Order: sequence, then structure tokens, then C-alpha cells
Amino acid sequence: MRIGVLTGGGDCPGLNAVIRAVARRSWANGHEVVGVREGWRGMVEHRFSPLGPEQISGILPRGGTIIGTTRTNPYKVDGGIDKVRAAFEQLDALVAIGGEDTLGVAARLYDDFEARVVGVPKTIDNDLSGTDYTFGFDTAVSICTEAIDRLHTTAESHNRVMVVEVMGRHAGWIAVHSGIAGGADMILIPERPVDLDDVENEIRRRHGRGKNFSIVVVSEGCELPGAEDKGEVDQFGHKLLAKRGVGERLGDEIESRTGFETRVTVLGHIQRGGSPTSRDRILATRFGLKAADLVEAGDFGQMAALRGDEVIACSLREATAELKTVPLDWYDVSRTFFG
Ligand code: F6P
Repeated sequence: MRIGVLTGGGDCPGLNAVIRAVARRSWANGHEVVGVREGWRGMVEHRFSPLGPEQISGILPRGGTIIGTTRTNPYKVDGGIDKVRAAFEQLDALVAIGGEDTLGVAARLYDDFEARVVGVPKTIDNDLSGTDYTFGFDTAVSICTEAIDRLHTTAESHNRVMVVEVMGRHAGWIAVHSGIAGGADMILIPERPVDLDDVENEIRRRHGRGKNFSIVVVSEGCELPGAEDKGEVDQFGHKLLAKRGVGERLGDEIESRTGFETRVTVLGHIQRGGSPTSRDRILATRFGLKAADLVEAGDFGQMAALRGDEVIACSLREATAELKTVPLDWYDVSRTFFG
């Protein structure tokens, strides 16, 4: 068989570990593996590159993706799906590694013409259904936790409020996990409407009991009351997040309401860059092996998924049907430590 591998959407620590695992298992089964360049764009433009022992060597700990990535949606490209169909003629199977957008396309291709595709759940946001965790999330949470730890000492030294803006798009998983791990005094996530009076009261309450600094973690997808919605969306229909992020605007509000000196840190793409944690390397490796096994079994339209400690198969349709957002009980764990 000739098996293609593509990585789509935002890059994420662990992508190369998946590519390596798919390649190693597929070679062992006697197959050829090729990289499809830059996500779905490579399927539209028929751009493949060899993935042999030379390309795979040493990539396990490396961040990013050796085959490139874009957010191309072939359903939005003129004649895109015909070109993707033609690309499938050159492959016996495709392993698509991506989040809800990339895998949403895979699910649709499978429904439309039974494309021989299997999926691997990738995203630092951890917002994909069907799997307990995506790879890349643990690395992002570790980076944010370390940042929060560092911000604690400078916040305390200067008696300041520190606002830390983290990624996650429309799900607050990174904020809740890193906020709990870092001992944040307030965590704001898109799943819960922001009440600025509450934020002010919690900070005042904390400072009133002798604490002269606070750490507020805010997820980038939070909307502040009164914020302007320009209605702009990307190729996948996602609302574009404001250029001057929510962190800056929240910092201004906190400082003007409380009078406490406030600084803002936007962690941005640092959360996605660099080497994966050991946990992500292992999860990515297990997902890659499962994807290769699904191809071997001809079990298309499926995605490797983590349930408990087991890697199982779940349908791409189920995985992409709706976003996995933070449930109330998770938020309650973090709320215990507010103020
Ligand atoms: O989906 C991963 C992610 O990092 C989100 O957390 C973030 O909103 C988005 O990608 C950023 O995208 P870009 O790299 O295109 O700016």
C-alpha cells in the first residue's frame, strides 16, 4: 500500500511523533509512506514527499511538523473536492492528523465518497469530542503552568494583578487546567459569561484579606460585556478573535475598577512551539500506531481516541459532531480557589 500522512490546522507538539509512529508501523507491514505537504492543500495540489528512514530519523522530540501545515479547507477551494478525489487515486489510504476542522473535512470526505481516511486527534485546545485528551494539550498546559509560576513571583514583588491570556479558541481547557495547576486566583473561560463585577469583587476580597497580588487566567475566546462583534469568520466559519486580545481589555478593566496596578501577559504561540512533553510523545505515538492499525484493517472513517487509558477507535463523525467544551464540574474545581 501507499499510505499518505497529512497534518492540518495549527501546528502542535507531538505531530512528528505521530508521523514517526505511523511510518514505523506501516513499514513493518510492508507499505510505503508519503507525506502530503501542508495539510489539505497538499491533497488539492497533489504535493507528496517521501517519508523514509532518513526523513523520520530524530523527529520524535521535535516540535512543529516536518510535512508542513495550513488551514486549507478543500470544500472552499474551486474544484477542490475533485482534486482531492484525484489525489486519493494516488494513495491507498490517508492518515489525517488534525483538530475539528481537518478531521471535519476527513469525516465529510468519508461520507461523500467513502474516502479511505483515518484520523488522529491533534490540538492544544483539547476541544475534540470522542477522545478524553488530544496530544499537544499536555505540553501547552505545562508551558502555561510554568509561566503562571513565574508570574507569581514578580506579581508578589510588585503588588500587582497579573492577567495571563492563554489559547484555546472557544474552549477553556487550557485555562482551567493551567489555572488549577498554577494556583490562579481567578479563571475566565468562554463557556461561562464574564461578569466584570464578580472579577472586581473577587480581587478586592483577596486583597482585603491581606494578599497584595492576584493572578487572573483568561482564555482567549472569552467575551467581555459590551465588546464589539465584527462578525468576521475564517475558512471554517470560526469567529475571528479580536486582534487586541481579551487579556489587554480585561487588564484595563481591572486596573480602572480596582485601582490595583495590572500587567498583562499574552502567551500566544509559545504554547504551541517547541518539544512535546513525555506524556504527549507517548500519546502521539500510541495514536499513530492505532491509526496505522486502522489502515491495515481497512477500518476507514475512524479516528484513534483515548478513553481512560485505552486507545480505541471512534467514528470521525462522532468526533467532529460538536466541540468538547469545559463542563461545569471541571470549572467548579477551579472556582474553589478563587479570591
Ligand atoms: O487551535 C489551535 C490554536 O492555537 C488556538 O488555540 C488559537 O486560537 C489558534 O490556533 C491560533 O491560530 P493561528 O496560529 O492561525 O494564529
